[in-house]
Amino acid sequence: MKKIKILAIVGSLRKESYNRQLALAAKEILGEQVEFTVLDYQDVPLMNEDIEFPAPDAVKRVREEVKSADGIWFFTPEYNHFFSGVLKNLIDWLSRPVSDEEPQVLAGKPAAISGISLGISGTSIAQDHLVTLISFLDMKVMNVPRVTIPSAWQYVDEQGKLTLNEIYPHLEKQAEAFVNFIEGK
Ligand code: FNR
Repeated sequence: MKKIKILAIVGSLRKESYNRQLALAAKEILGEQVEFTVLDYQDVPLMNEDIEFPAPDAVKRVREEVKSADGIWFFTPEYNHFFSGVLKNLIDWLSRPVSDEEPQVLAGKPAAISGISLGISGTSIAQDHLVTLISFLDMKVMNVPRVTIPSAWQYVDEQGKLTLNEIYPHLEKQAEAFVNFIEGK
C-alpha cells in the first residue's frame, strides 16, 4: 500500500527552533508508517504581485511539495499573539492560483496544527488565527486534537534541546489522529 505523505510546515526559520524540534519529534513518532518531510522554504521571496507570474522557482517547488502531500501539519510559533510573518508569506504564495486552469494548492488538504512557545498561551492564540486563515483557504482542518505547549523553557536543556516529557503522549495522540483524519477514518 502507498505510504501517506505528510508535509510539515514550521513557522520559524530559526535553526534551533523548538517548533522544528517538535516537528522532528512527530516525524520520529510516525516512523516508517508515513513519509514525513519538513518543508524548506527559506528561499521563498516576499509576496509581490510584480513577480508572481511566472512563479519564482522556490514558489514552484513549494507548490509541488504541497500538491504531492496527503496532509499538511503546521508547527507554529507565536509572535505577538499571531503566527509568524514568514508563515503568512508562504501561505499567501500558496493561496494563489497556479494558472488559469489550476487552482491554488491548499484547498481540500487535511491540516493539523501544533505549536510551542515561551509564553503561557502555548501558541493557542496564534493557532486560532491560523485556523481562520487556512479555513478561508478551504483546507480540511483537524481542530481536535491540537497540541499547544506553553513555557517552552521547561522542556529545553542548556543546549537548547527539546525533551517532551509529559507532552509526548499528546503528540503521539495527535499524530495517530491525523493519520486517521487523512485516511478518512
Ligand atoms: C515571541 N515569543 C512569544 N511567545 C509567546 O508565547 N507569545 C507571544 O506572543 C510571543 N511573541 C513573540 C514575538 C516575537 C517577534 C518573537 C521573536 C518571539 C517568544 C517565542 O515563543 C519564542 O521565541 C519561541 O522560541 C519561538 O519559536 P521557535 O523559533 O523556537 O520555534
